[in-house]
Amino acid sequence: MLGGILKRFIRPLRLFSSNFVSLVDENSIVRKASWILAAEKVEGDYLEFGVYRGRSIIKAHREMEEVYREHMEESGGRSSEATEEIKRIWSEMRFFAFDSFQGLPKIDGLDALGSDFEEGGWSSNEENFRINLTKSRFPMEKLVVVPGWFEESCTEKIKQENSLKRAAIIHIDCDLYSSTKTVLGFVESLLVDGTVIIFDDWYNFKANPSLGEQKAFSEWSEKLSDWVFVQYQKEGPWRNSFIASYQGN
Ligand SMILES: C[S@@+](CC[C@H](N)C(=O)[O-])C[C@H]1O[C@@H](n2cnc3c(N)ncnc32)[C@H](O)[C@@H]1O
Repeated sequence: MLGGILKRFIRPLRLFSSNFVSLVDENSIVRKASWILAAEKVEGDYLEFGVYRGRSIIKAHREMEEVYREHMEESGGRSSEATEEIKRIWSEMRFFAFDSFQGLPKIDGLDALGSDFEEGGWSSNEENFRINLTKSRFPMEKLVVVPGWFEESCTEKIKQENSLKRAAIIHIDCDLYSSTKTVLGFVESLLVDGTVIIFDDWYNFKANPSLGEQKAFSEWSEKLSDWVFVQYQKEGPWRNSFIASYQGN
């Protein structure tokens, strides 16, 4: 009897959460990064490239909100000025969602050397994405959706139109070398001292450093002589992250 009740009520909840809702994860990179960003008062927006149906951006927002709220309390030696500043930084932070909403682009060049991806894989749609966020009580006034292929949507115009100047977290979840290369070129001017860059697919392509996100990152970071990218957290089977540290004058 009790078993039946549990199955009826708990199982659907579990399915709902695993599909979608994002229970807060104590060990996620986003959560840990938020501690550093809040404590160090790093200013900027959250940018996610490859949002699909919204699961990871919803989760990121929840985890960040929790961490920032803790930092808005006057404790642990934080002054009222410090908490006010953290409040302001959190209230100004927006969540940018970039996606084609048509899935992956044509797989060619280096990306065709792997066999895990196909054109149109991870296809979603913007309306459903918005519905999912609304249902999860995402604060829609903080959301900026940029639909389209990164190769067309990641432009200076988008930065200007949205006064997009700084990124606190850059979450790259677009699987491919070609897409990651475009994204990294776009975010270069948005780096601040302390920006956290998360690569969701770091170990794709059997972790081959000459392919995928690893290849795009190594090519890109080698050119940026004013920046050092400090290895940060890893998470789950695939993820890795770095903190951008400014070394210029
Ligand atoms: C693995 S899914 C993202 C999953 C999502 N972050 C989550 O955890 O729910 C990869 C996404 O990257 C997007 N994508 C990959 N390359 C792209 C490109 N060049 N332009 C636009 N979107 C791209 C796909 O449309 C897809 O939604």
